[in-house]
Amino acid sequence: MSTLVDNFGRQINYVRLAVTDRCNLRCQYCMPANGIEIVPRKELLTYKEMYRIIRVLTELGVQKVRLTGGEPFVRKDFMSFLEMLSYNDLLHDINITTNGALIKKHINTLEKLPKVKNINLSIDSLQADKFAKITRRDVFNEVMDTFYALEKSSLQLKLNVVIQSGINTDEITDFVALTKHKNIAVRFIEEMPFNGNGLRATNENWSFQKILTTIKNDYEIQEITPEKSSTSRNYKINGHIGSVGIIPAFTRTICNDCNRIRITSTGTLKNCLFDDGVFNLRDFIRKGASNNDLKNLFLQLVKQKPENGFVAEANRKQHVSESMSTIGG
Ligand code: GTP
Ligand code: 5AD
Ligand code: SF4
Repeated sequence: MSTLVDNFGRQINYVRLAVTDRCNLRCQYCMPANGIEIVPRKELLTYKEMYRIIRVLTELGVQKVRLTGGEPFVRKDFMSFLEMLSYNDLLHDINITTNGALIKKHINTLEKLPKVKNINLSIDSLQADKFAKITRRDVFNEVMDTFYALEKSSLQLKLNVVIQSGINTDEITDFVALTKHKNIAVRFIEEMPFNGNGLRATNENWSFQKILTTIKNDYEIQEITPEKSSTSRNYKINGHIGSVGIIPAFTRTICNDCNRIRITSTGTLKNCLFDDGVFNLRDFIRKGASNNDLKNLFLQLVKQKPENGFVAEANRKQHVSESMSTIGG
């Protein structure tokens, strides 16, 4: 079987698929207050197209898919799509990244889907007023309810906390404290400039190192040997059942082991979070491409995967300005 290997010998076995560019929140670090321009519905991949793309990718060795958005649960019939995707016998893991505002009622069903093992839930503040300021929406109670329900469920739970200078850095210790009695992974993420041109002034540069030093001020931590290709460096604290991680999303020290490609909601393949998109799969499919055509295309396109996110950024035609909601995180 041919598999996807890039020019640096990296095996691609993980695809991140954005099922929509729409989101029910307006997080400050992701988009301006009035949102971003969303694309017409017919420009979005259909579920059938998504299923087919993922099927072809799994025939090339992809085993893990992460569904993102925008907010995946905003797209109509998303739960049916999850069920449909579960029929792909070559797929091992179907994971989801969500803001949690719409999912509480689906948790029981999610638990019954054997390939859905892990949910990454975004929570950037544990304080209602601050949460509302960051998300520009009044959904704190719904999201916290989802958090508690997921924590009790059989699904593995990771919390994603984007560290925002002058906004939630004072809560790092509170987030770490959650891991004492909860079997969850709390992961702090470096803020990146994917905010749809919603310009943001930052006073301090909250890099991986600064986040780590802040945690170390209050806790004694031991690094855990990372899973290969993990986005986070992870740590254990004595007496805590959960773990803490930091994602160097902006300082990009994780590229050597990169195992992923991305597909945006309009079907653009991205070899790297920081590239500006290499090929539109939707148009290729709608012009009648066969599965074999798609396979050959993927095998070629991954050869263009840049060595790291800095090279990808340097090769862009336009400066980074798109929203994470368009890219899919
Ligand atoms: P796991 O499958 O649990 O490892 O998830 P993940 O960390 O890959 O996914 P998630 O959607 O939770 O993303 C968390 C943060 O990591 C987001 O801010 C992503 O943009 C960032 N991230 C995910 N993949 C990459 C990557 O390949 N490069 C960089 N620089 N950041 C990434
Ligand atoms: N910088 C860092 N992380 C971001 N996310 C969204 N926008 C940004 C950004 N500008 C995070 C979300 C979610 C994940 C998919 O990406 O909070 O947890
Ligand atoms: Fe992969 Fe690009 Fe992220 Fe680096 S920045 S880990 S190459 S997607």
